[in-house]
Amino acid sequence: MKLAVLPGDGIGTEIVAQAVKVLAVLKSEGASIEMEYGNIGGAGYDAEGDPLPESSLKLAQAADAVLLGAVGGPQYDQLDRPLRPERGLLRIRKELNLFANLRPALLYPELAGASSLKPEVVSGLDIMIVRELTGDVYFGQPRGVEVRVGPNGQSERVGFNTMIYSESEVRRVAHVAFAIAMKRGKKLCSVEKANVLECSELWKEVVAEVAQDYPEVELSTLYVDNAAMQLVRNPKQFDVIVTGNLFGDILSDQASMLSGSIGMLPSASLDANNKGMYEPIHGSAPDIAGRDIANPLATILSVAMMYRYTFADAATADRIENAVKKVIAQGYRTGDIWTEGGNKVSCSAMGDAVVAAM
Ligand code: IPM
Ligand code: MG
Repeated sequence: MKLAVLPGDGIGTEIVAQAVKVLAVLKSEGASIEMEYGNIGGAGYDAEGDPLPESSLKLAQAADAVLLGAVGGPQYDQLDRPLRPERGLLRIRKELNLFANLRPALLYPELAGASSLKPEVVSGLDIMIVRELTGDVYFGQPRGVEVRVGPNGQSERVGFNTMIYSESEVRRVAHVAFAIAMKRGKKLCSVEKANVLECSELWKEVVAEVAQDYPEVELSTLYVDNAAMQLVRNPKQFDVIVTGNLFGDILSDQASMLSGSIGMLPSASLDANNKGMYEPIHGSAPDIAGRDIANPLATILSVAMMYRYTFADAATADRIENAVKKVIAQGYRTGDIWTEGGNKVSCSAMGDAVVAAM
């Protein structure tokens, strides 16, 4: 198995190092895993003048899967937009055609107290958000900032982006979401803003068409504002949620807090053949970078997803997830999930604990 490892910026290097420890265990037991490192984000810009250097893209294209840390940092905020770290991340998603982004939000029972919601609201929570990842307003043309002349003859700058989805883009991500729902609780909620946006109207229609192929799945729809409210009112009503790129970005951050910390949420971004890129959903956290205090569990759980989806090895995925469950049950806590009585550990100690649990 060829793995491209792109740690990126900020805490990216620290958390990826813990995930690599987990991979090293599997390797020492005989798994054939080849890892090659590349730069992405600000690290790509610093080293090679490009947030997605050609060498990193080639590495990712040649690999079976990509493990990514995080990108971004305040030192890059003044760069021209195409040179910013985020552009590197968006480009690699697009270049690899990773249109289906799976973001599970799961509450480990021991972390109920770390959630900002009441324990009874979140206990037993197990949601899968399927976010479309290569379309929408993130990539739509035209986009830009330009000077335009207004109705009274005055000129001023306007900023604009285009929210756009083709039927085929909606259809393929809908199929992924329905297939996942079939393997879970057979409930799918499609989230859009069809009361206002034509783009969402089409989304809703196409999802309803795809539903005919999955008669066992109960399909519901919600406007995104209502979905945001329902996610904190009664999150356990959801099984699988499918939504567009922008709404999915927002709702998945929101859902992460139900599970205690954004530091717990892994993700898989898949193409049509289950080649994937695996990354925590959180960012590069520049404020705590280099201090060995970040939570590596989202990245370690992303490796579990890699085994489940790209390598079709559910046993190894379960083993990694069970190791994480065990360290949580044993009381190991990084700062973000720490509550009174927990054993506060560093990022690297958490990685070691998971390795020991394996
Ligand atoms: C995410 C992030 C990215 C996104 C940023 C860093 C470009 O927020 O993966 O959710 O908006 O997709
Ligand atoms: Mg986000």
